[in-house]
Amino acid sequence: MADPLTLFHVSDVHFGVEDQLAHGWFADAVAAERPDAVICTGDITQRATRRQFAAATEWFASLGVPLTIEPGNHDMPYYNPFERFRTPFKRFEKMKNAVHAELMFADLVVVPLRTTVRAQTRFPWSDGVVTQKALDRTLAELDRLKDDGRYKIVACHHPLMAGPPGSHNPTRGGDRAFAALAGAGADAVLSGHVHDAFDLTFEAGGHPLRMIGAGTLSTRLRASRPSFNVLRYDRESGLELEHRSLALPGAE
Ligand SMILES: [Fe+2]
Repeated sequence: MADPLTLFHVSDVHFGVEDQLAHGWFADAVAAERPDAVICTGDITQRATRRQFAAATEWFASLGVPLTIEPGNHDMPYYNPFERFRTPFKRFEKMKNAVHAELMFADLVVVPLRTTVRAQTRFPWSDGVVTQKALDRTLAELDRLKDDGRYKIVACHHPLMAGPPGSHNPTRGGDRAFAALAGAGADAVLSGHVHDAFDLTFEAGGHPLRMIGAGTLSTRLRASRPSFNVLRYDRESGLELEHRSLALPGAE
């Protein structure tokens, strides 16, 4: 049997408040294991400064493997409200153009979903929003792939739901997006944002959809150590998830 496809799912690397030990640990794992691709689900920087994006561009380029990347709520200008409203993703797009690749695999496809908006009518602005326009873009891509037998991963920054359908959801439009994506044939959704890893499967309309969250490689830790996910996929076994955490300094 051929080797499974191997993807490293990393998120919330937060240049500006990065954990340099964790960044080195991740880069070493990429160099040693040469995954087929890295998927980064946003919050590349802490304050979307040019310096932070420049550092991120250099780091991602140095990984030397195909990379696909989504923006997070921290990737829109923070100190320049004029730019945030007019061209919120300009700095992110400049970095993306330098490091992003469209992933082409025989058995798996990655489709993006935008969950970040420049402003909201509620606080905090950091919470996710799935607009109808963003959802429609992703659904159109899934529709185009509907007779394609590949495993379909949607990549976004915010978890679509925090718990079972109907429970409190900080992501506006998340329940609707979850149901629509499940119905459109998505198999899994990768996200970041909460800085702790998770692996949950819920159902909508009889369609199961798996939600996988990656932790952070920043110093902004919540419940867990810096971490990333290793995803392995082949048609026989499906998608297998290994959650990898950085050991405490001094620990084995
Ligand atoms: Fe974050």
